[in-house]
Amino acid sequence: MLNSWISSFQFDKAPKKISTPTGYAYFFGSQDPQRFKILVEEHALEWQLESLLSHDKEIVYFSGRKGPVWILKPRASRHHGHWGLMNESAYTWSRDMIGSMAGYFKAHQLKSVIFEFFKTDAEQELGALVGLEMGAYQFRENFEKKPFTLPQIYLSKISGHLESKMIKEAKARGTAINLARHLVNLPPNELNPTTFKKYVSQIKWGRNTKVEIWNVARLKKEKCGLLLGVGQGSPNPPCLIHIRYRPLKKSGAPIAFVGKGITFDTGGLDIKPSAGMRLMKKDMGGAASVLGLATWVSQSQIQTPCDFYLALAENSVDGLSFRPSDILTSRSGLQVEIDNTDAEGRLVLADALDVAITQKGANEPGRVINVATLTGAIKVALGVDFGGLFSNDDELANQLLDSSQKSGDHLWRMPLPEKYFASLSSPFADFKNSSEGFGGAITAALFLQRFVRGKKWAHLDIYAWADKASGAISASGGNGQSVQCLIDFLSGI
Ligand code: BES
Ligand code: MN
Ligand code: ZN
Repeated sequence: MLNSWISSFQFDKAPKKISTPTGYAYFFGSQDPQRFKILVEEHALEWQLESLLSHDKEIVYFSGRKGPVWILKPRASRHHGHWGLMNESAYTWSRDMIGSMAGYFKAHQLKSVIFEFFKTDAEQELGALVGLEMGAYQFRENFEKKPFTLPQIYLSKISGHLESKMIKEAKARGTAINLARHLVNLPPNELNPTTFKKYVSQIKWGRNTKVEIWNVARLKKEKCGLLLGVGQGSPNPPCLIHIRYRPLKKSGAPIAFVGKGITFDTGGLDIKPSAGMRLMKKDMGGAASVLGLATWVSQSQIQTPCDFYLALAENSVDGLSFRPSDILTSRSGLQVEIDNTDAEGRLVLADALDVAITQKGANEPGRVINVATLTGAIKVALGVDFGGLFSNDDELANQLLDSSQKSGDHLWRMPLPEKYFASLSSPFADFKNSSEGFGGAITAALFLQRFVRGKKWAHLDIYAWADKASGAISASGGNGQSVQCLIDFLSGI
C-alpha cells in the first residue's frame, strides 16, 4: 500500500517537545479579524506588522519570529456562469490551497508544522485534509519504498468537525486518488496486465469485497474476442478483473464501473509516432481510477452494491498482433472490422461492458459507468482539465455533472448524435472500430453505446495526467482524474 501522510498526523495534542525547524499554518474557514490580528502579532516581527495587517490577500506568508507562517483566509467566491458548473466549490479551493502547502513545507525542510483550523466547516476540512494527502504523494518515495520526507503535522481540534470519522474519510479519499495516480506513474516495464492483477490481489479488501480474475482461458470461453484480439500481440496476456462490493445492508440495483486498462498503447500495427506514444503508460488511467474508487467503496459505508471491471491488455507491435482489416467477434455477438489497431480502448471496453450488463438477477446493474483515456480528440476539444461526459440518461448525466463541480474534478457533457455513427459502417462486419474525420471522441462514444443495449450508461473520456504541478498535485504525472467525482457521486446516492 501507499504511504499515507494523514495517518501520521497528531490530533488534539499540545506538543511539548517538537523537532525544529517548525512551521505554522492557519486556515480560516470564515472571517475572524480579531483572531487574525492575534496570530500576526504572535508571529510577526515589529517591522512586518503594519503591512501584514493591512493587506487583504487570500493567502498570507511571512518568515516569522519562530519560523515560516502561512495564513489562509476565506475565499472570495467567484461565479463563472455556465450554470454554475465551473464555480469553484469550497472543497476544491481548500484542497488546492492547503494541498499546495505540502510543497512549501518540503522546500523549507521543516521537521514539524503546527496546523490550526479556525471556523472551518466540514466541507473545507475534508478538502484541506484530502489536499494534504494528495500534496504529500511522491512517486519515488513509494516506488523505491523510501521513508516519508514531509514534516510531522500537529493539527489542533478547533471546530469540532475534525473527528476520527472525517480523518478516516479524508484518508480513504486521498489514498484512493493517490493509488490511481501511482498506477498511472508506474512504468510499463513494471506494470502490465499480469503485475496489475497481482497488485489488485494484494490489496487488503474488506469482507464485503471479492475479486475474480478472468485469464485467457476464461476470456476464450466467454467469447471476449475484442479484449483477446487487442492483447494477442503481447507476451503479457490480457485479463479481466472483476471486483464485487456487496454491503450487508444493500439498497438498490448495483452500479457497474468499467475501466480501460491498456498498460501500454503503442498503437499496435497502426503504430503511433514517437510523440504520441511517449505518455502511453497512462492508457490504463481509467482502470486505475476505477480501482482507486473500489478501494474507497470497500472502506465506505455506502449501501449501493457496486461492481468494478478492469479490462487489461497491452497493445503491442508483434507478428501475433491483430491487424487492420481483421474481423473480431465481440462477446455480445456483434462483429467488428478493425479499421485502426490504435482504436483499441473501445474494443476492450466493449467486451467488459457486455460482461457488466449481462449479469443476472440481483446482480444486474441499474447503471453502468465507464472511465477511459479513450481519445486524443477529447483533449483537443476540452483541454486537460475537463473530462468528456457522454450519457444516454439525463438524470445520470446531471448527477455526475453536479458531483464533478462539487469535487473540482470537472466533466463536460458532450453530444451523442446518432447520425455520426454512419462513419463507422463497414461492408464486411456490423461496423468498424474507427473512421477518418472530425468528432473522434463522439464516434468512439457511439461505438461504446452499441454495447450497452439501452442500459443507463455514462462514459467518461479522461486525460488522467497532469502536465505540470498545480494545486494539490505537486508534480506532473497521474492525477487521479474522475476518482473524486465518482466518490462524490456515490456518496450522494
Ligand atoms: N489511448 C489513445 C487515446 C489518447 C491519446 C488519450 C492521447 C490521451 C492522449 C487511444 O487508444 C487512441 O489511440 N485513440 C486514437 C483513435 C483513433 C485511431 C481513431 C486517437 O484518439 O487518435
Ligand atoms: Mn490507441
Ligand atoms: Zn489507447
